[in-house]
This record gives sequence, structure tokens and C-alpha cells, in this order.
Amino acid sequence: MRLDKLLTSLHFGSRNTIKRLLHSKQVTVDGVIITKAGQNVDAMLQDIRVNGRKLCHQTHLYYMMNKPAGVISAVTDKRLPTVMDLLESTDYGKGLYPVGRLDRDTQGLLLLTDNGQLGYQLLRPNKHVTKRYEVKVNGLVTAEDCAAFQAGIIFHGGIQCQPAQLEVLAAASSESHVILELREGKFHQVKKMFLAVGKKVTFLKRIQMGPLILDPALASGGYRALNDEELRQLLPYFTIEKQQSAQHLG
Ligand code: URA
Repeated sequence: MRLDKLLTSLHFGSRNTIKRLLHSKQVTVDGVIITKAGQNVDAMLQDIRVNGRKLCHQTHLYYMMNKPAGVISAVTDKRLPTVMDLLESTDYGKGLYPVGRLDRDTQGLLLLTDNGQLGYQLLRPNKHVTKRYEVKVNGLVTAEDCAAFQAGIIFHGGIQCQPAQLEVLAAASSESHVILELREGKFHQVKKMFLAVGKKVTFLKRIQMGPLILDPALASGGYRALNDEELRQLLPYFTIEKQQSAQHLG
């Protein structure tokens, strides 16, 4: 939301009054004086103060969902149910969407928000957001596989992946159970990485994305609003465009 719109909605006065408030350097966002009325801000994610007084305003929706297998992580689909169909109508909001794609048969952590700027930052390749998956494959995961993931898997077709870490929980010739940690998000990445070492993924569940860890209390298909601590941990992914006129407060 634009800073001037936020201040208007909180009854700080007319457009001119708000302009004056900004130009007289009375407004700070995360300790930085902001004079630009059009600055994008979020009072749930950022510490916004007018004359040192913190503003409280629910400007966006943030839900953590435990996506079940069988639903599409999209806003709409012509044929199949989507994660949006799992929401109570009272929790639905305009612009709400799932951040990033999980395959239809993949389960686990999905962030839903109407804050497009945050979603964009979390998915930007240069942010290298960590993702952790619980994975089962139909074969023996070996020390060589772990080394190959660490060196950077090369897909059939030549595409090189960044180094990724495998933690083996159980390994047998019929099935192995691992935790995979990676910092990129290529299409069908986990399944293709295991195919590159000759194994098929039979179970895939995302358990972490950046600072967000899947709440073990969330049943499959369940969701809840992010709590204050989780929102605070997301702050580094919500960048303020620093302006020339911005100064750090002493
Ligand atoms: N990698 C995959 O192959 N599928 C997913 O759903 C997520 C990551």
C-alpha cells in the first residue's frame, strides 16, 4: 500500500497535511525517514512511525497452508480444485495468491498472500531463498548421490543446478527417505534432480521456505494466519526502496 494511502486510511488528514507530515520528516519506516508519498509500505511487516508513534494497520493477508496432494497451487483452474478452494470465504481477500508453485502431487508449506511485492522478493532467483523438502524416492540414496547434489546436479539436457544438501534419514534399495535443502526454484526441480541420479520421487513435501517452517500442528489442507514472529522473520524479504532523501535516524 502507498504510504500516503495508509496515512489517509488512518485519518492523518488531507493530502496536503500528509504531504507536509512527510516533508517535515516526521514519518519513518524501519528507522529510515521517508518523504515520498508513493512509497510502498506494509504496517504488518514494517515498523512505521509518525512522530515516533508506531502505526498498527492490517494491510495484507498472510497465510501458511499445509497443501494436500491433489490440489493445484494456482488461483483458478478450469478442471481441478485449487488451494484457494480450501479457504473459508471469510478468509478470502482480493489479490490473494499462492507464492511459488508446488506440483499437484506435492504437499506441504505454501504461503498465500495478497502482498505481491513480498511474493516477488521471495521468488527472485538472486535472493537464494532456502527451501527444504522431505522426499521419498524408489531406490538407495548413496554417499555418491549426496556428493553429486553437493557438487551441483546437471539435468539430462545440460541445465546445471546450484549445490544442494541431502540429509539421509533412511536408505534401502527399495526406498530412501531424505531431507533436501536447496536455494533455487527451477520447474519440477526436486523430481528432476533425483531423476538425474536415477531415482523417482514417490513422496514430496515442502517443510521450509526461507524463514517459514511448516507448522506441524497444521493438518493436511489446513491453514492459519502467520504469527508476529513469522512476519518479523519475513522482513528482510520486504525491501524498502531507499530514496535519495532518506536518512537513517541516529
Ligand atoms: N520440485 C518439484 O519437483 N516439485 C515441486 O512441487 C516442488 C519442487
